[in-house]
Amino acid sequence: MTQIVGIAGSLRRESFNAALLQAAGRLFPDIITSESIRDVPLYDADVEAQALPAEVARLQRRIMAADGLLLVTPEYNNSVPGVLKNAIDWISRPAGDVRNVFHGKPVAVVGVSPGRFGTILSQDAWLPVFRALRARLWLGGRLMVSHAHQVFDEDGRLADSELEERLESYLRGFIDYIGR
Ligand code: FNR
Repeated sequence: MTQIVGIAGSLRRESFNAALLQAAGRLFPDIITSESIRDVPLYDADVEAQALPAEVARLQRRIMAADGLLLVTPEYNNSVPGVLKNAIDWISRPAGDVRNVFHGKPVAVVGVSPGRFGTILSQDAWLPVFRALRARLWLGGRLMVSHAHQVFDEDGRLADSELEERLESYLRGFIDYIGR
């Protein structure tokens, strides 16, 4: 069965993006599993020259073994959040190994924000990053979730059935793309 690794780009305990990833995992429990970037250190070329941090190597193995990557991204200052960019930068190292981790890897990018535009600018800001990494970006669907405070209940579960349908349809499209 298709295996997708999901990564949410926020360390916040009650992160909306982590909640959206959990909702995706509940819709496709046999397919989507999530990974945290909490233990990824700040990128440091001097550290890299010694050895890849164990957590970075672990995430690399997870993504390499998966059929696809689902990135659930917040938007910071109309662009990508630093913690998530830091994690992707680490995972892309060393440069000679890019081919193994991201090259040809199906990648889908979604996100949620409390504002009106639902991470449209951060999603777009990821495009050149994954182009540089030669990933297979799925562009067949878009899922921007706005007004985050209104779509989750107090337990962080999706409380908006129309959004749940949109999420399911988006994920089905990505899963079909991976299978093709
Ligand atoms: C934000 N936020 C934000 N939201 C947005 O829609 N567009 C933006 O440009 C920004 N910029 C921004 C910058 C910084 C530094 C912070 C800390 C926040 C708000 C952001 O969407 C909100 O904090 C989300 O709740 C972050 O996602 P998580 O942590 O809930 O997953």
